[in-house]
Amino acid sequence: MSAQRTAAAGDPLDLLGRALERQTLFVRGEDLRRRPLPVERWLGPLEPADARVLDRARGPVLDVGCGPGRHVLELARRGVLALGVDIAPAAVRHAVDRGATAMLGSVFDPVPAAEHWRTALLLDGNIGIGGKPVALLRRLRQLLCHDGTVICELEPPGATTRCELVALEDAHGQRSSWFAWAHVGVDGIAPIAARARLEAREVWRDDERWFASLATDGASGTGSLARSAGSRGLAA
Ligand SMILES: C[S@@+](CC[C@H](N)C(=O)[O-])C[C@H]1O[C@@H](n2cnc3c(N)ncnc32)[C@H](O)[C@@H]1O
Repeated sequence: MSAQRTAAAGDPLDLLGRALERQTLFVRGEDLRRRPLPVERWLGPLEPADARVLDRARGPVLDVGCGPGRHVLELARRGVLALGVDIAPAAVRHAVDRGATAMLGSVFDPVPAAEHWRTALLLDGNIGIGGKPVALLRRLRQLLCHDGTVICELEPPGATTRCELVALEDAHGQRSSWFAWAHVGVDGIAPIAARARLEAREVWRDDERWFASLATDGASGTGSLARSAGSRGLAA
C-alpha cells in the first residue's frame, strides 16, 4: 500500500469510533483490496435473519464484539438477560446510548459472571476476533455454563478458513495499524470447535448467511452435526 494512498496508520479503535459517526468504513486485507464494512447495518435495526438467530439464544446471553448493540437491545426487548462486550469505546458508547447493556473490554480480559453464560454470540464475522478462532472459542468455553452454546456466523461453503492481517480505512484513506482477523467457513468449523472442546451441533443457512451452534459437553442435543433444511453443500 503506497504512502500516497493512505495517511499515517492509526488505532483501529479510533477509526471504528469515527466510522460510527460517519457511517463509512473499509477493511483492507492482505490482498490489498478494500472492501466496505456494513457500519450502517450495525447501527440500524435488526434484519430478519438476525431476529431468527436470536430465537435460538437462551439467556443469559453474552454478545461478544457487540458493536453498537443491536442484538443486545433486541434480546432485552424480548426479556432475555443479555450483556454486550466490546473493545471499542465508541461502540460501547453507542450501545449504551441506545439503551443496551454493554461493557467496555476485551473478551480475553475478565468478564463478569464467567461460567454462567448460557449463550455466547459471535455474529457478523466476530469469529474472526483475535485471528485465532480456537483460542477465541476456548475463551468462550471458559465463560459458558456447563450446558452452554456458542452461536456463530460463518462464511459460506467453499470459503477457505484462514487468518489474515487486516487494516481499517476511512473514506479519506486514513488507515489503521494492521491486526489479525480470522475467516471461518462452514466446512472448517467442526474441527476448530472440537479443539476448543465444543461440538458443532448444527449448521444452517438463513437469507444467504451461514450460522453454527457449538455446544459444551453438558448441552443436550443429537451429538452429531445436523444440517438444517436450508443448508447445502456442506462437507460431511
Ligand atoms: C463486526 S463488528 C461488530 C458487529 C456487531 N456484532 C453487529 O453485528 O452489529 C466487530 C466488533 O468486534 C469488536 N472487537 C474486536 N476485538 C474484540 C475483543 N477482543 N473483545 C471484544 N470485542 C472486540 C470490535 O470493536 C467491533 O465492534
